[in-house]
Amino acid sequence: MSEPKMDKTRRALVAATAAAGAVASAGAAVPFVWSMWPSERARAAGAPVEVDVSRLAPGELMVVEWRGKPVWVIRRTKDMIDSLKMVAPRLTDPESRASAQPPYAKNEVRAVKPEIMVMEGVCTHLGCSPQLKPAEAKAEMGADWVGGFYCPCHGSKFDYAGRVFKGAPAPLNLPVPPHTYLSDAVILIGEDRKGA
Ligand code: FES
Repeated sequence: MSEPKMDKTRRALVAATAAAGAVASAGAAVPFVWSMWPSERARAAGAPVEVDVSRLAPGELMVVEWRGKPVWVIRRTKDMIDSLKMVAPRLTDPESRASAQPPYAKNEVRAVKPEIMVMEGVCTHLGCSPQLKPAEAKAEMGADWVGGFYCPCHGSKFDYAGRVFKGAPAPLNLPVPPHTYLSDAVILIGEDRKGA
């Protein structure tokens, strides 16, 4: 009898959450990661997903499933936002000219609000799910690491805006999905609405 099927994306999500959880248990200063799953019906329809970010503390990341893909929502700290300028010379496409994002996220922080980053957690090389590696992970990532994401499959590194570092196999920055702020606390992922 064949084993129960777990689709690839779901497996990646579980892996990402588990990996980040492992990091979280390693040090108190490391962000906590949590996940949100839409209803089966919404998932099947590929419907936009409403996310309440009011409980997301500075430095925390949550994973939301949209159209079968993990979407990350991270509340960036000032240090995380400041790191984006510092790493720009080391990036393949710091201005995100070649990457996929809506017009309102084509800026130096790749976001509507600098403190809230929304991006797809799927590596642009071969589709693995990168892991959160905070600035505290220097021993593993190198002395010049200021925090971001690391893809364990072939070593691509991304900053806190999902922009890929030079020399990585991933060719493009992580995509930013369409999204709309319904209020300060609620983001609709998967849909552009007028005024977004
Ligand atoms: S899939 Fe991420 S580096 Fe290859």
